[in-house]
Amino acid sequence: MQRPDGPSDARLHVAIIMDGNGRWARARGLPRTAGHKFGVDALKRTVEGASEAGVSTLTVFGFSTENWRRPGSEVSELMKLMKIYVENDLERLARDGVRVKILGRREGLSPDILQVIERAETRTADNAAFTLQVAFNYGGQADIADAARALARAAKAGEIDPEAIDEDMMAGALSTRGEAPDLIIRTSGERRLSNFLLWEAAYAEFVFQDVLWPDYGPQHLKAAIDEFRQRERRFGAVEAGKRAAG
Ligand code: FPP
Repeated sequence: MQRPDGPSDARLHVAIIMDGNGRWARARGLPRTAGHKFGVDALKRTVEGASEAGVSTLTVFGFSTENWRRPGSEVSELMKLMKIYVENDLERLARDGVRVKILGRREGLSPDILQVIERAETRTADNAAFTLQVAFNYGGQADIADAARALARAAKAGEIDPEAIDEDMMAGALSTRGEAPDLIIRTSGERRLSNFLLWEAAYAEFVFQDVLWPDYGPQHLKAAIDEFRQRERRFGAVEAGKRAAG
């Protein structure tokens, strides 16, 4: 399993729970869907500024397995926005060297969304400068359950030895491949993980920012990363200066 470490200027994997679209819209007397629409603009600004802020992988929570419980009109709008975002931005992202990956369950998504997802992944498959992962129809528990089921099937078919199942094999079966974020940001002041990257968050640092997502931009990302750089990460070991003392 990949475990981030290294010097303080290392390129980072940052994950963002983009929260507060509904509250942003309500404060302006607008429908919730308007908050999501402006949320797409915030996502574009943040992706554009991420590389300069020191990020090499940005993972964002676009639609959770629990978001199906929202009113049908809001679900349709989120689906539509995902499609429009990819359709409008794919060529620019591809030219900028961005590799796009979509995390989460494909079952349950409509054929037009699946087509957009596959096109984005195929078109950018050879890019390596920056990775943008959009968690869409994603839930951490669902992803772990899906991985467990896939390994159980492989074991039943005799393709793997159940005794060989370890953390690395589990990680490899997740839609994220277990790639661990260094930093998880949640906007809007809420302080929950909400079923995001449960496995991958094992050693992540958390930064909670009060800004509502539609107001977010590269300056907020830089501030979160500055705070992250102050933290000492030990990954279950002891502080670097105390290692020799045993
Ligand atoms: C949380 O705000 C946000 C979401 C559930 C969806 C995030 C989606 C976007 C930013 C739109 C772009 C998406 C993609 C995939 C391109 P909320 O509605 O829960 O806000 P609230 O807590 O204030 O009600």
